[in-house]
Amino acid sequence: MKQIIIEGGTPLTGKIPISGAKNSVVALIPIALLAPSHALIENVPNISDTASLLEMLKILNCHITYENETLNIDTTEVKNTFIPGELSKRLRASYYLMGTLLAKYNYVEMSIPGGCNIGLRPIDLHLDGFKSLGATITTTDDKITIKTDGLVGTDINLRVPSVGATINLMIAATAAIGITHINNAAKEPEIINIAEFLNNLGANITGAGTDTITINGKTTYQNGKISVIPDRIEAGTYILAGALMGNNLTISGIKKENLTSLFHALDEMQANYTLNDDSLTITKKETYNPINVTTTFYPGFPTDLAQPLASVLTRCNGTSTITETIWENRLGHVPYLVKMNANISVENKEKISVHGPTIFLNKEVEASDLRAGASLVIAALAAKGITTINAAEHILRGYENIVEKLSGVGAKIKVNEIE
Ligand code: UD1
Repeated sequence: MKQIIIEGGTPLTGKIPISGAKNSVVALIPIALLAPSHALIENVPNISDTASLLEMLKILNCHITYENETLNIDTTEVKNTFIPGELSKRLRASYYLMGTLLAKYNYVEMSIPGGCNIGLRPIDLHLDGFKSLGATITTTDDKITIKTDGLVGTDINLRVPSVGATINLMIAATAAIGITHINNAAKEPEIINIAEFLNNLGANITGAGTDTITINGKTTYQNGKISVIPDRIEAGTYILAGALMGNNLTISGIKKENLTSLFHALDEMQANYTLNDDSLTITKKETYNPINVTTTFYPGFPTDLAQPLASVLTRCNGTSTITETIWENRLGHVPYLVKMNANISVENKEKISVHGPTIFLNKEVEASDLRAGASLVIAALAAKGITTINAAEHILRGYENIVEKLSGVGAKIKVNEIE
């Protein structure tokens, strides 16, 4: 197990550069398989999700170099091989291999991504979409097989604008004969980045970033490259850390237009920040105005920033609320923030009230998932004394060089490996 140990209470001053977006790169890496001989991906974050996907590509017989944040993927000898569960269960996003291998080979066989405990339901939109494009799907125990004699373009109406389903179906539809419309598509900035890569590989996709994406299929794939967009969730996390502990803390290399819902929340709190071309500088205030935030699909407030935000809301003068509308159970951080002296009541599984202002105390806590872990890091940066965050692997899945980046602005932070 890994632990992150933080001795909090020191102000954060200086610059944190933002890495490439995790939620983009986890799709871009599988998509590279479509290139006939090689693909280049720049600004690739060195996180454990990247490493897991590269292991999967190696099983598929890709030759890969990864230097200076650039991935060079040689696909000349790719073989359509079964991906074992030990790998595909490490991250849910391994399901992008389904759309990609279906597009490339009309056939994919893999262990069910994300583990049996979540069942098939959370990927029903992906599977229904593959079916309407002309694939048949069989599942046995832990294995899923998707095959087709040839995909055919169609109209797909998503029940909810799922990020994963939008991407997976966009990928598969590049191989389908004729035109596919994905209606009620997700509009996250990562979708635009991914459509751009597919177009660089020869696809004909329009409308990415709007409600309807149109794919004119039957692509003859070519080699191509892409640069990963900045990670808006990583940026948001450090901005929120700055709201608690910043003293002229600059978050650089951001795309401001992808963070407007966070800026709106910061404005309502009356946070003390300034925006420049591609950076933001923030200095903490002792207390803030309480706010009410509801997470929703992009461009609404991102569910992935709700947990980091909860830590900052402890500094509001009064009661703030966060209502979660995307995930059913995203409260893994709450008992640990409470252990660290936050005053949070859970009204139902979707809504928490944070009663402030309170001051964090150092404790031993545990990261139940990636963003819950991020909220604990923020709390620990503010708590005087040493906080130990167990199960820190979750945090390292999504934050490149978090220890180096925070140390670089004055935090006392290290990672421990324990038995
Ligand atoms: C992506 C992000 C994740 C973020 C989430 C919502 C990646 C790798 N992960 O996850 O960080 O929290 O978007 O912004 O990009 N749903 C179904 N059936 C499906 C698919 C989804 O019912 O087939 C539901 C989910 O249970 C959830 C909602 O749709 O309630 C949104 O899920 P989705 O947008 O698909 O999330 P992910 O793509 O998994």
